[in-house]
Amino acid sequence: MSERLKITCIGAGYVGGPTMAMIAHRCPSIDVTVVDMNEERIAAWNDADLQNLPVYEPGLDAIVGEARGRNLFFSTDVASALKSADIIFISVNTPTKTYGEGAGEAADLRWIEKCARQIAETIDGPAIIVEKSTVPIRTAAMIKTVLEANGRGDDVDVLSNPEFLAEGTAMADLADPDRVLIGGENPQAIEKLVSVYEHWVPRDRILTTNLWSSELSKLTANAFLAQRVSSINSISALCEETGADVGEVARAIGSDSRIGPKFLQASVGFGGSCFQKDILNLSYLCDYFGLPEVADYWRSVVKMNNWQKHRFAQRIIKNLFNTVADKRIAILGFAFKKDTNDTREAAAIYVCRDLLIEKAHLAIYDPKVSLEQLITDLEYAGITDARERAERGEIVMTSDAYEATEQAHAVALLTEWDEFKDLDYQRVYETMPKPAHFFDGRRLLDLGHLRKIGFTAYSIGSGIQ
Ligand code: UDX
Ligand code: UDX
Repeated sequence: MSERLKITCIGAGYVGGPTMAMIAHRCPSIDVTVVDMNEERIAAWNDADLQNLPVYEPGLDAIVGEARGRNLFFSTDVASALKSADIIFISVNTPTKTYGEGAGEAADLRWIEKCARQIAETIDGPAIIVEKSTVPIRTAAMIKTVLEANGRGDDVDVLSNPEFLAEGTAMADLADPDRVLIGGENPQAIEKLVSVYEHWVPRDRILTTNLWSSELSKLTANAFLAQRVSSINSISALCEETGADVGEVARAIGSDSRIGPKFLQASVGFGGSCFQKDILNLSYLCDYFGLPEVADYWRSVVKMNNWQKHRFAQRIIKNLFNTVADKRIAILGFAFKKDTNDTREAAAIYVCRDLLIEKAHLAIYDPKVSLEQLITDLEYAGITDARERAERGEIVMTSDAYEATEQAHAVALLTEWDEFKDLDYQRVYETMPKPAHFFDGRRLLDLGHLRKIGFTAYSIGSGIQ
């Protein structure tokens, strides 16, 4: 009888957790172990109550519930899991460097290198190492060098298999991906990984390339997606000066099949763990390879995004008669998009920061974000006294939207949660001092309806403001 294939994944985060859960779900003949150095995180993945999983993704709990304990395991015992693995995924974080050379742009690869060393020290037979984390081009060479220098080069292959899932729709993206990308040098190793995905992904959607194309494709895909958002956001500003409507413009250009309708939703700005990080990383790489013009071209996408977030906060301040000091402002939504508890680089962090610098009082409601997370994010963004302000009641997290909006001078809608579509805005209006201002950073609501109720309403990219 042949041995069961064993997969180990280092990193039980937003990428590693859902991806491995899907592999275990679709491949009952493969044993999948996800390891992480963070004990609390692993305990949460093992929690009997599936509502306590550390990552919120629609559909994830059901899949974990089905596969966990059968062929899906979460553990902190990294060494044992690595020893027995045929395929090792590296899915640890690769944040932007905050120190030294390349600070603010380059990817911090110390966790990746640590994983490579851990693998080199632990494994004693052949293995396939798969880069799942987004990494700068040529990272596979570094992993290979570490392995070879430790006598583990011959029977170990390194593949690149970037993840394209988007948070909030991760399970659907994993179940039915547009494509799976696998880059590598050794056709047998590539074939082995292909055979895992073939359990549920049609062969013609599994693309194979050389290592470097695969690594670079991930950065490029994110750069192109983010560029579309910055492009439509730049036009939203022009719409507000001219009376054009960015929704109508997006529909008009998106009907051109060469442009297509997706990713043309003007917003308060893109967030998330990937877009900004990957573009800055791409720019840094371009500079490194002597291509400053290319670097600046991509950097401008991030610059536009920063400006859009700032512009939105400035709009609130301006419309509130140039002062928000001691005024209560309701913030609806804090996550970087709907259907996730993730706040990394959320536009809301920066809008709130700008308002707090102007001494506003904030009442924030988000169905999935905790006060603790909010304080951590604000502190990181430079509001070092966020905790004290919360203790004084100047920053509060409410348990529903009505509580946040009560007595607020303005409402700023920053995440497009479905539940915000169905609020009773007449009721919201009645509890606010007048004039009652509304700022829709997601173009979620009908501006005409809000204005009819009596709000002084603004929506990104709609009409002359
Ligand atoms: C991360 C990167 O941000 C992304 O670029 C990449 O594509 C995939 O990995 P994500 O899963 O969202 O995405 O990160 P995060 O939720 O921070 O999870 C990483 C996990 O790795 C953490 O739980 C951390 O504890 C763990 N880790 C990190 C280890 O187990 N060992 C390490 O040495 C470093
Ligand atoms: C992104 C990529 O889509 C995914 O392929 C990659 O693996 C990781 O990075 P994610 O960050 O989870 O995924 O979310 P995404 O849906 O791409 O949205 C990113 C940000 O752009 C969000 O803040 C979203 O609100 C914003 N956005 C997106 C817009 O403002 N307008 C749009 O039209 C689309």
